[in-house]
Amino acid sequence: MICLENTVKTYRTRKGDVKALNNVNLRIEKGEFIVISGPSGSGKTTLLMTIAAMLRPTSGIVSVEQNNLYAMSIRARAKFRAENIGFVFQMFHLVPYLNIVENVLLAGGTATDNNKNAKALELIEQFGLAGRNYHKPAELSAGEKQRTAIARALFNRPKIILADEPTGNLDADNATSVLGYLSEFHKAGGTLILATHGVEAERFADRTINLHNGKVANPDKS
Ligand SMILES: Nc1ncnc2c1ncn2[C@@H]1O[C@H](COP(=O)(O)OP(=O)(O)OP(=O)(O)O)[C@@H](O)[C@H]1O
Ligand SMILES: [Mg+2]
Repeated sequence: MICLENTVKTYRTRKGDVKALNNVNLRIEKGEFIVISGPSGSGKTTLLMTIAAMLRPTSGIVSVEQNNLYAMSIRARAKFRAENIGFVFQMFHLVPYLNIVENVLLAGGTATDNNKNAKALELIEQFGLAGRNYHKPAELSAGEKQRTAIARALFNRPKIILADEPTGNLDADNATSVLGYLSEFHKAGGTLILATHGVEAERFADRTINLHNGKVANPDKS
């Protein structure tokens, strides 16, 4: 369902070009839980952003469910992203001025559900945050922030969740609970791609893709 063909991403900077993805070929099937592993600077975030329809590669094709993402109009791509893809960032990326409920509702840009508020409250309760509905991110612990971010990523019932070091800023207990929520999404049939330089997520995953200097170090045999 996710397919990258000869994907290259070169960042052009004043100090010269950086090839962050160097001819990546990948196939990820619907419902797989993939860990993207690799040292700092190997291209994990770049790869996730490219799959998330947020970063156009320099060359190559990225398709999700037969949609060639970067051949679409900007508007069509944004709609596709909102309807199909949830993203969890390492640094949470919650809006500081909005409370938890409002942060979760932010994901609902294109949803037509007029029961959005109730849906957000239900999701927040499932994540054990009901007592914190109207608190702002600065008043939350790191684990609570990341649970809010996962609730937001799940709000539109995406088929795919991309998580960039989602446990990187959490202690062991919170990391385990965040991995638990994400693997529940996977068990319910979702496709989950998680980038990390740790190893703790790998025991839940179907497959690990190793990145080194923008290249897949263990390409599939197919
Ligand atoms: N906006 C940018 N402009 C220029 N170079 C960039 C930019 N973003 C990333 N890079 C470079 O591209 C390479 C891959 O970066 P990327 O952020 O994808 O790595 P990463 O595997 O996610 O690293 P980390 O584990 O530290 O998060 C690195 O060499 C980085 O310096
Ligand atoms: Mg990164």
